[in-house]
Amino acid sequence: MDVLRYLEERARLVEREIDRWVSPKFKPEILAKATRHLIEAGGKRLRPCIALTACEAVGGRPEDAIESAAALELLHNFTLIHDDIMDRDEFRRNVKTVHELWGEPVAIIAGDALFAKVFEAVAANARRLKLESERVVELFDTISKASFELCRGQAFDMVFEDRRSVSEKEYMGMVSGKTGALTEASAKVGALLGKGEPKQVEALASYGRLIGVAFQMQDDVLGVAGNQKKFGKPIGSDIREGKRTLVMIKALSTAPKRDRAILLRVLGKRDASKQEIEAAIEVLKRSGAVDYVAEQARKFVADAKSKLAPISKSRAKEILFALADFVVEREF
Ligand code: IPE
Ligand code: IPE
Ligand code: MG
Ligand code: MG
Repeated sequence: MDVLRYLEERARLVEREIDRWVSPKFKPEILAKATRHLIEAGGKRLRPCIALTACEAVGGRPEDAIESAAALELLHNFTLIHDDIMDRDEFRRNVKTVHELWGEPVAIIAGDALFAKVFEAVAANARRLKLESERVVELFDTISKASFELCRGQAFDMVFEDRRSVSEKEYMGMVSGKTGALTEASAKVGALLGKGEPKQVEALASYGRLIGVAFQMQDDVLGVAGNQKKFGKPIGSDIREGKRTLVMIKALSTAPKRDRAILLRVLGKRDASKQEIEAAIEVLKRSGAVDYVAEQARKFVADAKSKLAPISKSRAKEILFALADFVVEREF
């Protein structure tokens, strides 16, 4: 299964649909430019792919979920624009972030605009399919609840920066919110639009949640051990920002005292030098924390796959398996 080719094929469908909802032509021009900037810079389009494949896995056609698939990518891009403000990151997808280019006020409104478009696109999807009212309510309920859960996860992510210690359990709760909530919603929305049975919808939702957690763990690994050009985001910025990634949590609890001191000296030090960051990354690697997190992520992927038991064998199911593997094998 060539997941990358599949993602690219699906992305083309989604791209066209996104242009329908966030046109390059709307006014004022600065808003059109700021809302489209990250979208045009690329991205894996993983969430729409999950939605389209989940729709297919319960017997729907991928086209049945296309507006909502685009909506999920808009929702994702909204969270990225605001996340980059919160994290003070200067680039993503190998381009400058929205607030770097246009300033925070414009970045805030660009994010809000994308969020508003989510609901318009999903409503159009429900109308086109003439979906029964109960399913429509569930669709919107899923997206609103995921959005709130994501906010809670993001708030914990920030609160943890100032905490003396954060447990693995607390980390799991935080990433389950900031990343797992949206991947769960993506799978669930696809399954709802494909008219899946409640058991199937539930199975796909659990799968989505678990691959989201694995995804975030792998992201934390790549954030210190990845290749910056491939990854598209600054390596080591989690350390500068004082983020309690699982890699950091594990290293702080297992590394020898001298190594712990090296970590604590740079954790949250915004103006840390390149050398200090490199030394901290060395510690993270030799402590075994990077390998530990990669291993944990693989366990979540195995668990995610096992949740798909109620879904009958099909090409779509195979793609869901391959997407799950991709989440932890990816380098970008
Ligand atoms: C980035 O998500 C935010 C996280 C949840 C770590 P992606 O890695 O899916 O970002 P793009 O869309 O491919 O750029
Ligand atoms: C990922 O946030 C989750 C959201 C954007 C909601 P992070 O801050 O961990 O991800 P990156 O590294 O900026 O993509
Ligand atoms: Mg960030
Ligand atoms: Mg963040």
